[in-house]
Amino acid sequence: MDTPTIRKAFLDFFTARGHEHVPSAPLVPNDPTLLFTNAGMNQFKPYFQGEQTPPYKRAVTIQKCLRAGGKHNDLDEVGRTRRHLTFFEMLGNFSFGDYYKEKACPWAWELVTDAFGLDSDRLWVTIFDTDDEAFEIWRDVVGVPAERIIRMGAKDNFWSMGVAGPCGPCSEICIDLGDAFGDASERGPAGNEERYLEIWNLVFMENECNAAIEPVGPLPKRNIDTGAGLERIAMVLQGKDHIFDTDLLGGLVRRAGELTGTRYGDSETSDIALRILADHARAIAFAVADGVLPSNQERGYVLRAIMRRAVRHARGLGHRDPVLKGLVDAVVEAMGPAYPELEQRRDLIVEVAGREEARFDETLRQGLTLLTAEVERARRGSRTIPGEVAFKLHDTFGFPIDLTAEIASESGLTVDRDGFEALMHDQRERARAARTGADAGEVSAALAEAAARSGPTEFVGYEGLVARGRVVALTDGGRSLPAASEGDEVELVLDRTPFYPEGGGQVGDRGVIVAPSGRAEVLDTRRVADGLIAHRVRITDGEVALDDEVEAAVDADFRAGCERAHTATHILHWVLRDRIGEHATQAGSLVEPGRLRFDFNHFEPVGDERLAEISDELRTRVLMDDLVRAYETSYDYARQIGAMAIFGEKYGDFVRVVEVGDYSKELCGGTHVPHTGSIGVIVVTSEGSVGANLRRVEALVGRDGLDFLQRRMRVLERAAELLRASPEEVDERLERLLQTHREMERRLHESERAAAEQDAARLAAEAVDVDGARLVVARRDGEVEALRNLAQRLKGRLGSAVVVLGTAGEGRANLVGAVTKDLVERGIAARDVLTPGARLLGGGAGG
Ligand code: SER
Repeated sequence: MDTPTIRKAFLDFFTARGHEHVPSAPLVPNDPTLLFTNAGMNQFKPYFQGEQTPPYKRAVTIQKCLRAGGKHNDLDEVGRTRRHLTFFEMLGNFSFGDYYKEKACPWAWELVTDAFGLDSDRLWVTIFDTDDEAFEIWRDVVGVPAERIIRMGAKDNFWSMGVAGPCGPCSEICIDLGDAFGDASERGPAGNEERYLEIWNLVFMENECNAAIEPVGPLPKRNIDTGAGLERIAMVLQGKDHIFDTDLLGGLVRRAGELTGTRYGDSETSDIALRILADHARAIAFAVADGVLPSNQERGYVLRAIMRRAVRHARGLGHRDPVLKGLVDAVVEAMGPAYPELEQRRDLIVEVAGREEARFDETLRQGLTLLTAEVERARRGSRTIPGEVAFKLHDTFGFPIDLTAEIASESGLTVDRDGFEALMHDQRERARAARTGADAGEVSAALAEAAARSGPTEFVGYEGLVARGRVVALTDGGRSLPAASEGDEVELVLDRTPFYPEGGGQVGDRGVIVAPSGRAEVLDTRRVADGLIAHRVRITDGEVALDDEVEAAVDADFRAGCERAHTATHILHWVLRDRIGEHATQAGSLVEPGRLRFDFNHFEPVGDERLAEISDELRTRVLMDDLVRAYETSYDYARQIGAMAIFGEKYGDFVRVVEVGDYSKELCGGTHVPHTGSIGVIVVTSEGSVGANLRRVEALVGRDGLDFLQRRMRVLERAAELLRASPEEVDERLERLLQTHREMERRLHESERAAAEQDAARLAAEAVDVDGARLVVARRDGEVEALRNLAQRLKGRLGSAVVVLGTAGEGRANLVGAVTKDLVERGIAARDVLTPGARLLGGGAGG
């Protein structure tokens, strides 16, 4: 069976048994605790936890998985074993509180023996130590001989995602590959996991675990989560010895061989490198297709580490030419039919791979030279690469720590990871301190108490700008205050407020709060913990006290400016993705009154022409005056209509969607204009790089945009006046003027040169003979530099000569002396010639 046939057989088997075929989720999960999707069950986590109600009770998927970084990390094994991959496809069937072990086990058995036709005598199963229920089902219902059902501990047979979430005991189906794969064992897979290969894991999801992976209680229902590695099934069904010899991966290994001029099978070391290249190329292509770009943080960093590791292994084969582009292209070719996102993003994938390889190539060799020297030193001494070296390799030469560790381990050495981490920590701390300044502020006890007393602040700022509320907390940042009076700067919390708290890039509202016997100016508004919204205020009149009934009024201009900028941000996001590509997603933003800053993922400058097109499109979309709608809906619905969410952000069941016209849809809590026309204008003022694969656009909107344009126009008009031209002619006129200017400069230079030549000729003619040599003594007022040139010219003309030139002016005199080479050889030094004259002038001769 080739891979497509296996995929189909699996899906058919379970859809025939009432399972909904759910598409693979992206590699970037909607779960901030998880780096990459590492199992089929990830996308169903809220169903298992009872947080969301599934629309179906049974599901079957073929899930793209990446096991790199995080707890499930197979990076180090890849290529060195016959069975590990970082990227793989997981076949899985799921039950959400529906069937349990009694169906999951027999079905799995039926599929592998009937549909896949594996010999049941070669199959073993493992179960969790205390799982008698599973034991009985395997033995009595399925008919597996008791001696081939092996009980194992939590390390092997209790499965979790590696982060807080659902978990449970599991049971694995393994196949005996035969004598060629190692010694037989009575304990089967417990005795030799190379020979008894795990092909399917059935998890009985019934527990919940915390971040330390300790079970903390049962899930609301008992569920099934299974996962079979497609590539392992292919290896067994295709009768191959190695996962990399299967139909899909075999082709990629061969391609890696062609690109590096290496034959697969030549040596174990080069084979490992070729397998690593094949595996990593898949991880790279799929990660980029799902929106990850190499960077220095989180998933981007793991991707970068994978790419750099691949490059280093390619260079290790003694080949200098780039390989990643060709390899990822082969991945798209081979897997595009099953995963159209690869085809759609082919250009991006190839481009990103090529760039990262080129970037790393610049420092790889230098870094390797340093590391090789350190490896030699460590070999003779401590057998450990110091943390500072690993840090330098990381910081200066771009070596991910795992790469350094891998290279060290090839010589039997280790890396001082603690030392490395400590240095990284220091660096991060320095950066953080620089970013946040002093006010990293935690929630004070006073605020926590207010929250406990009066509950979360009700935000009424979507509906209006003015509202009545009651003061429920007043603090000096730490302690609770009964009242605050004129001049005090305090934190003030109301039970309800129209002030928007900073969030989603939009800054907090400003305005005033009027109390019965005082008044406060709101300087900033932010959300603090427990659902409270805190206003930072300065009391400008009288006194404001706890429990005061107040009127809170947002500064309407301030808010309107923010709203224009915020809606403009959404339009910009949409236009960028439309014009540049879907990968150009938001990485951060700042929305202030009248201006915005928008960071997005992209690997090269946008370019003047495209930026002009984008600006044009932005203006058009403002003029279209489309409706802007905001509404609350379920997260599922928002996903269904394709609303953009921020990668890695955690969303609840209910979310707020903001739609602009019929094109932009984003999850957003911010405030917006009612129609795009109210933005007035969006003026892009700059585009530039702010980090690896990160670009920033800055723009002005509304009044600020118009003022900017007006200022520019003034400058243009003034320039036109100076040129005595119309503004439309300015550039052409200026160009002509500059041309004339350049021409005149050239002529001036030429005539100065000619004059100098003439002068030199005249002086040379007047030279006197002294002892067979020629002597010129003259005064020429001007720059010393000109004097030096003149002296050189004279030397050139006179053959054997001494030249003394003087210049005077502005209370200062200079002498320049020159002696031709033949006279220098006769013992005449320019310095000696000048000294008497210099003395007369009251100075000396030097240089
Ligand atoms: N979640 C389990 C695993 O990844 C079964 O799918 O092995």
